[in-house]
Amino acid sequence: MNIVKARNLACPLDGLRLESRDRQLFCNQGHVYDLARQGYVNLLPVQHKRTKHPGDSKEMVLARSRFLNSGIYESVAHKLAEITGSYLTHSKNCCCLDAGCGEGYYLDYLFNYLQEANHRCAISFIGMDISKFAIHEAAKRNKQISWVVGTNRQPAVEVGSVDIVLCVFGFQSFEGFNKILKSGGKIILVEPGADHLIELRKIIYSEVKRTPLQDLDQLEDMGFSVLDSQPLQFKTGTINNKQIHDLLIMTPHFYRATKEGREAAANLEQLDLTVDVMFRILEKK
Ligand SMILES: C[S@@+](CC[C@H](N)C(=O)[O-])C[C@H]1O[C@@H](n2cnc3c(N)ncnc32)[C@H](O)[C@@H]1O
Repeated sequence: MNIVKARNLACPLDGLRLESRDRQLFCNQGHVYDLARQGYVNLLPVQHKRTKHPGDSKEMVLARSRFLNSGIYESVAHKLAEITGSYLTHSKNCCCLDAGCGEGYYLDYLFNYLQEANHRCAISFIGMDISKFAIHEAAKRNKQISWVVGTNRQPAVEVGSVDIVLCVFGFQSFEGFNKILKSGGKIILVEPGADHLIELRKIIYSEVKRTPLQDLDQLEDMGFSVLDSQPLQFKTGTINNKQIHDLLIMTPHFYRATKEGREAAANLEQLDLTVDVMFRILEKK
């Protein structure tokens, strides 16, 4: 695989392509963005923020990093890499963007997988997340990926310049994804299935809801069709108290759980969990 630098980052204020010089990115209209010492760039202007520190907190990001680094979800990362690899063309100018990349585990895994698989493709990788804390951590993982603080609602990427958008347990903005995808481009969604973490959910909620996946047929009007759906189910094996704590903190369950539920989870010594996820692939016409 030939890794190329992402050249399709765009000014979040006017959508113009960003050029780089020294440690800055700038557009023709004179908007300038500094590269942080860690190598990422913040392309989230204050007018695109709804709170001072949008997205996941530092505590959530660090918990997710510890949990994912333990390898418990490696099968998810592996399947994502296999599916993504199967959709990569041999084009010279291929861009893969992880929308809501968190602390970068999945995109870094994909990067290494494609490199080892010796994929014949010139590809650039962009990891984008609205949380500055998440991107700060992601930038430590891999210096060859372009890490960007930005929002999926208005991705700071040139219109029609992305081949594959990954959205892993993330905030889905199909309008934003539609805008940046090339014609024939793909969205790969990874979403929790009905039994995902069911053992933990039974402990933290008084009533467990088995929410079905959203119907994607409504996206046909936007020009998307569903190409494929692939489930993945496995058991984590025994995870310990610390890992249960990290898992709870890194998911929305922490805020939704009852106080008693959180206490019960905190007292668990170990748990064997079901991971139930669905991979769905959409194509833009
Ligand atoms: C559940 S986490 C998943 C992170 C990562 N994909 C993973 O699975 O490890 C959701 C992520 O979406 C980010 N996020 C929330 N709203 C967002 C938005 N509007 N644009 C981009 N990222 C967003 C959060 O900061 C968080 O990192």
